[in-house]
This record gives sequence, C-alpha cells and structure tokens, in this order.
Amino acid sequence: MHAVIDKAQLSPNVTRLVIEAPCIAEIRKPGQFVIVHRAPGAERIPLTIADADADRGTITLVIQAVGKSTEDLVALRPGDTIADVAGPLGKATELIDHGRAVCVGGGVGTAVVHPIALGLAARGVEVISVIGGRSKEWVIFEDELRRAGEVITCTDDGSYGRHGFVTDALRDVIEAGGVDAVYAVGPVPMMRAVAEVTRPYGVPTFASLNAIMLDGTGMCGGCRVAVGGKTLYACVDGPEFDAHQVDFRELADRLGTYREFEAHATEVAHRRRAAAQEDAADAVGGTCLIPGLATTTERQEAAAAAGDRRE
Ligand code: NAD
Ligand code: FES
Repeated sequence: MHAVIDKAQLSPNVTRLVIEAPCIAEIRKPGQFVIVHRAPGAERIPLTIADADADRGTITLVIQAVGKSTEDLVALRPGDTIADVAGPLGKATELIDHGRAVCVGGGVGTAVVHPIALGLAARGVEVISVIGGRSKEWVIFEDELRRAGEVITCTDDGSYGRHGFVTDALRDVIEAGGVDAVYAVGPVPMMRAVAEVTRPYGVPTFASLNAIMLDGTGMCGGCRVAVGGKTLYACVDGPEFDAHQVDFRELADRLGTYREFEAHATEVAHRRRAAAQEDAADAVGGTCLIPGLATTTERQEAAAAAGDRRE
C-alpha cells in the first residue's frame, strides 16, 4: 500500500499527488515512469515520475483527469492509499552532458519534462524550458522549471507569457543557434510539430511517447510504436525515442483505439457518483455534505457524518 501524502490542484484538470514510495524514490531516474493500480479491479495507469524526494521516501505524480480511471485517482485525498505502484519502469532519459538543451513541455507534459530539465542542469547543461498551456490557468510547473534555467512560457490565447504555441517560441530559440538537443513532452500533435521544427536544423530531438500500456514490462505488446520503420515497445525501449524517426500518425491512431470504451466508462462513473451524492444527501436530510464525493474515504466520511447527525 502507498499512502497519499499530499495533493494539489495545478490547473483545471491537472492534479499533483505526492505518494509514499521509498524504494522508487531512491533509484528513479529522469524519464522513468510507474504503473499505478489504485485498487483491485481498477485500471493500471502509466505515469511519469515528475519528481521524487529520496529523504522523505516520496514520488510526485501529475495526473490529468481525462476519464473514469484518472478521475478516480485524482479523487484520492491525503491519507487514502493506492494498492500498487510498480516501478521505476522504462529507460532513463539520454541526457547530454554539455552545451545547451531545450525542454519543451505542452500542458500536462510540462510536469514530465521537469525531471529531465533538472537532470540536465545538474550535469552543467544550459537549459531553456519552453512551456505552454491553453491559457494562464493551464500553465504548470513554471516556478519548478526556473530552478533549471530560463523559462519561456506560452499560452494559446495570449493570456499569459508569449502568445502562441510552444513550437513558435522553440523555432526562435533554434534559429538563434547553439542548441545541442531538444526534449519534448506533451500532446502528440505538439511532439510531431516539435520534430518538424528541429528536423531541418538536424538538432537531436527526443519525444516521450504516451503509448497505451498494460503490463509495462514488454510482455503484452500494447505499447508498440513504430520508430525508424521498426516496431519497438514504449515501456521497455522507451518511453523516449528519436522524434525524427517516430511514426506519430500511428501513435495517434493507436491512442484512439479505446476512446469509445473510455467515454462509456466515464459516463457510467459519473452516473454512479451522482447517485452516491444523492444517497449521502438523503442520509443527512437533503444536504449533500461533500460535493463531488467519489472515493471510498469520502463515502465513508459522508455516511459517518450522516450517522452522527441522526444520533
Ligand atoms: P493541450 O492540448 O492543452 O496543449 C498544450 C500545449 O501544447 C499548447 O498550449 C501548445 O503550446 C502545445 N500544442 C498543442 N498542440 C500543438 C500543435 N498542434 N502544434 C504545436 N504545439 C501544440 O495539452 P494537454 O491537454 O495538457 O495535453 C493532453 C495530452 O498530452 C493528452 O493527449 C495526453 O495523453 C498527452 N500527454 C503526453 C505525455 C507524454 O509523455 N508525451 C504525458 C502526459 C500527457
Ligand atoms: Fe505491455 Fe509495453 S505495456 S509491452
């Protein structure tokens, strides 16, 4: 069991959970991920380790709530527990050890590029982070990335920082010259666009591929990706690959495979959650104690509180 130690909302649908995982915190390296299994019967979710504190024995996970399973995960609160956290998995990032690197983070991917930026800075590499969000409230990990070097922040609507996509700012940095490597993490269209910006300049570019994963150990084939005409497995050969060699169209197609199932599961979960809220409201005479209650802990607390009021 892994206890949730701390929780924070970073943007409208992105949550940071700090969880107890001392063995993983001790040995994890930038770019590696874990597979989180919240409870028996729950889906297994791959999440890159955004940060770790070996002294406290904790790792930090940053989760975008996009479906039933991720919504269940972000509903956890300090004191709740996660059944299994397997890792660290995957290969560590190939960090350059001199010169200048640009770390590009799009949306929730900014959290994933964070340990890479810190790892590069620790080696003496000059780091420029280019991060982006739809608008100001969607920008995350800006202060954390400043610890690694300069940060250029972009928003799609111009509400904060530079107006435009991260690729616009990246192009300017690349054209100014002197960039030795680019590390990109974010939505597939962003990583594909980053690869096209750097390709004409021949700048080595790495993309962290968010393939569908099941076992995370190279056994199931779920995470297969096409790189340089070869079939590779994101969980054991990656998750980072040469972005100029990745078939992003195939990756996007495969990521869409379970969209309908996911939408259905999310709808069912929302209905159940609404019913649980109504039950709790009934139990306390029409007042819902905790809006959005979802976890076992929340339901138990609501039931206990209802019992208290009845006595
Ligand atoms: P988003 O759609 O809000 O985009 C974030 C930023 O990426 C934008 O502000 C923009 O600067 C840039 N961007 C987006 N599309 C672009 C394009 N076509 N060209 C250039 N730049 C572009 O991002 P979000 O909603 O936070 O991200 C969600 C996606 O990220 C999900 O699909 C998720 O699977 C993926 N993701 C990937 C990883 C990974 O390891 N690669 C990790 C976490 C999440
Ligand atoms: Fe099963 Fe990679 S997740 S092979």
